[in-house]
Order: sequence, then structure tokens, then C-alpha cells
Amino acid sequence: MGVVALMLVGAGGITGLRLYSVAKPVEAIALTGDVGAGAYLARASGCIACHTDVEGGGPPLAGGGRI
Ligand code: HEC
Repeated sequence: MGVVALMLVGAGGITGLRLYSVAKPVEAIALTGDVGAGAYLARASGCIACHTDVEGGGPPLAGGGRI
């Protein structure tokens, strides 16, 4: 009896997944940001302080610095 109940639950689950698929097609997004505004925000926010290896002379925002 328990096995039959499990089979019914399983069949119901599979039918539900086929009827209501959770996999939807992915839509491409268009990036329309303002690079200048982004650079200003990055500077104003101080991102460079943690994301640049100042002691090692690394390029800006390239990481590698010790935190
Ligand atoms: C106080 C130091 C600090 C500042 C300031 C900082 N970050 Fe970070 N950031 C970190 C650390 C530490 C990590 C790594 C966190 C981790 O991997 O758990 C990180 C990770 C990241 C990541 C990777 C996240 C990921 O999921 O892998 C991005 C992107 C990032 N920072 C962008 C920025 C931007 C943009 C700014 C400025 C708005 C900024 N950070 C300012 C310390 C900082």
C-alpha cells in the first residue's frame, strides 16, 4: 500500500513538472549604463582602497591587496 502511494505521489510530481515547467528561456539583457557615472561612483565609494594592491604597486582595482 505504501509503495503504491509513493508511486502515485511520484507520478503526480512528474506530471506537475511537465505541466508547470520551472525552466524558462533566458532573455538577453541590454546594458545601457553610463560608464562615466560608474567610474565616478567607484571613486566616490572608495572601492579602490580595498581592491588595489597599493603596497605591491599593482594596477588600480586589480585586487591582490592585503585586507
Ligand atoms: C572595506 C574594503 C572594501 C571596499 C571599500 C570595497 N570592497 Fe569589494 N570586496 C572586499 C572584499 C574583502 C571582498 C571579498 C569578499 C569575499 O569574497 O567574501 C570584496 C569583493 C568584491 C566583489 C566580488 C564579489 C563576489 O561575489 O565575488 C566585487 C564585485 C566588489 N567587491 C566590488 C566592489 C565595489 C564596486 C566597491 C565600491 C562600491 C567595493 N567593492 C568596495 C572589500 C571591499
